[in-house]
Amino acid sequence: MLKLDIQLGVASAATQIEGGNVAHTWSDWAQKGHIKDGASPARADDHWKRFREDIDLMAELGIRVYRLSVEWARLEPLQGNYDETAAARYRELLIYMRSKGIAPLLTIHHFTNPLWFEALGGFAEPANIPVFLTFVEFAVKRFGDLVSEYITINEPNVFAVSGYMDGSFPPGEHAIPRALRVMSVMAACHIKAYALIHKLRREAGFDGTKVGFAHHGRVFAPKSPKNLWHRLYTPLVARMFQGAVARAFLLGKFGFPLRRYGGTKPGEYADFLGLNYYARSAVSGFGDGVFDNAPKNDLGWEIYPAGIAQCAKELYALLPRPIYITENGTCDNEDSFRCRYIYEHLKALAESGLPVARYCHWCFTDNFEWCEGESARFGIVRVDYETQRRTVKRSGEFYAAMIAHQGVTDGMFAEYVAPQEYHR
Ligand code: FCB
Repeated sequence: MLKLDIQLGVASAATQIEGGNVAHTWSDWAQKGHIKDGASPARADDHWKRFREDIDLMAELGIRVYRLSVEWARLEPLQGNYDETAAARYRELLIYMRSKGIAPLLTIHHFTNPLWFEALGGFAEPANIPVFLTFVEFAVKRFGDLVSEYITINEPNVFAVSGYMDGSFPPGEHAIPRALRVMSVMAACHIKAYALIHKLRREAGFDGTKVGFAHHGRVFAPKSPKNLWHRLYTPLVARMFQGAVARAFLLGKFGFPLRRYGGTKPGEYADFLGLNYYARSAVSGFGDGVFDNAPKNDLGWEIYPAGIAQCAKELYALLPRPIYITENGTCDNEDSFRCRYIYEHLKALAESGLPVARYCHWCFTDNFEWCEGESARFGIVRVDYETQRRTVKRSGEFYAAMIAHQGVTDGMFAEYVAPQEYHR
């Protein structure tokens, strides 16, 4: 029996599930032909219209915490011009989930910018820090009575590296200094948003506010341990991709290769440690690699369960706060190894001795997986995109059973986990 003192929830992001024609960077990116299977976020899961059905299904599975995000471009389609009808709909969603006993963990920025903000230079432009904060203020004023826990920004390192270094995300640039600037500006945005959210909620008479960010953590290891270059690159890549970002966001400390913008000060800027963990990278230079014989998911990412505890430990060493796994999951199109994946990652956490309070599985429903489109399935609930029919997968049944039993009984292990194997 694996006993779990971790609250099990699920995670999603607005652009990936809501659907609809919204003037943001990802609908534009899709229109320009950058999505591998030609999908567009305009379809996705049609969750904007079907949120009740999705929340009902969550409640049926026993889920009590849901990490979701708001779509900035929906709420502020033009700068300073807010859509109160959209805000009212998010309120309906939040009220509905709370009525079903599901607590929200709200992400304010998850990869997607309104087109007007992108035209202003987005997060590459330090002058835009107050523009982001104005939106944060709007969101907290509209939803603050319903939400006590916030994630300011999702995966600043992935956003910056994919958008400004390898060019796979919008705006598709290839310039390392720009990527570093984006991470630095986002850190300033986070630090200021941290203080702002606390202030606004306090002024409105609410306590229990918790604010953090969702850090994308990976394990880096030299591809060939005998190769001196691989060994030298490993700590450098780890620092550039994630170590420096974590220090900047959590502690307001801007060491190489980041820079301080916006007059922030060192301090403590998280009430929980949000960690998104997926994989290990084999390092042989800049860029991402995988070990040859490692178990892999359907996107070729290594499956390395011990890494989730390792990354959590690194964050905890920087700032001892309760750990929220804000994302962990895998692309398993046939749902043939997801139960084993979840089990092994939770086991690594449970055995780590770290104060892991939450685990939000990525994702609840299959969805629009950024550049991969609809062809990469991460959900514990299957979505038929043509009919929008939802079907709970075997991993969804397993997840519900884990919640009900607060762990994995021997019987559950034999039924769901033992028969599954990873691909290599
Ligand atoms: C993370 C993103 C999330 C999802 C997963 C698979 O990097 O935060 O939106 O796409 O990867």
